Amino acid sequence: MKLIIDDANVAAIRELYEYYPVSGVTTNPSILAKSGRQPYEVLKEIRSIIGDEAELHAQVISAKAEDMIEEAHKIVAEVGGNMFVKVPAIREGIKAIKVLAKEGYKITATAIYAPMQGYLAGEAGAVYAAPYVNRIDNLGGNGVAVAKQIHDIYENNGMKTQVLAASFKNSQQVLELADYGIGAATVAPDVMEGLLKNDIVDCAVAQFVKDFQGLCGDGATML
Ligand code: G3P
Repeated sequence: MKLIIDDANVAAIRELYEYYPVSGVTTNPSILAKSGRQPYEVLKEIRSIIGDEAELHAQVISAKAEDMIEEAHKIVAEVGGNMFVKVPAIREGIKAIKVLAKEGYKITATAIYAPMQGYLAGEAGAVYAAPYVNRIDNLGGNGVAVAKQIHDIYENNGMKTQVLAASFKNSQQVLELADYGIGAATVAPDVMEGLLKNDIVDCAVAQFVKDFQGLCGDGATML
């Protein structure tokens, strides 16, 4: 499972890129709004941080398929590199995905709350489909189960589309999907930092240092 950063804060992206094995960055219109910066300015800065090879996902805003298609062309031309265009898996979006996929654009179908959206987006030619795990949980559903079901639909039908699960609030949701072998998960910085947070582990590492420096002196290392 690829791990992707779901954020547009360039300082956070820089830091996470230094520490974690991440494959790219996803954004959405709300995430871009939170940055308080002009969308293309921030997307280009993210591109310069992560390089041309890494995945960068940006979403269209328009309601009609024809306008979504035009936006997709503009996003890819303007930002460049390994660009994915996020298109909501609604009626107009599925129409846009069909056209864009035929044109060779890489599409992430987004705003997925139900397995049927994932199936249709895959059939239309999306590279990824993004179920919103925690938002589904908040509606009383089971986000992890929806993501797994979409993954199974792709596997059972020989489809190439991968699940790019989104909207996580805790490590357990991420772990369950990694265990299941889904394609990718995009995770906000606070959840990313939480993946490794464990006081018991920190205590164990501190004890190793204490024992070693009891033998060799304060501040000693293997150097
Ligand atoms: O990009 C969509 C998804 O990541 C939204 O996450 O935390 O706003 O539910 P969230």
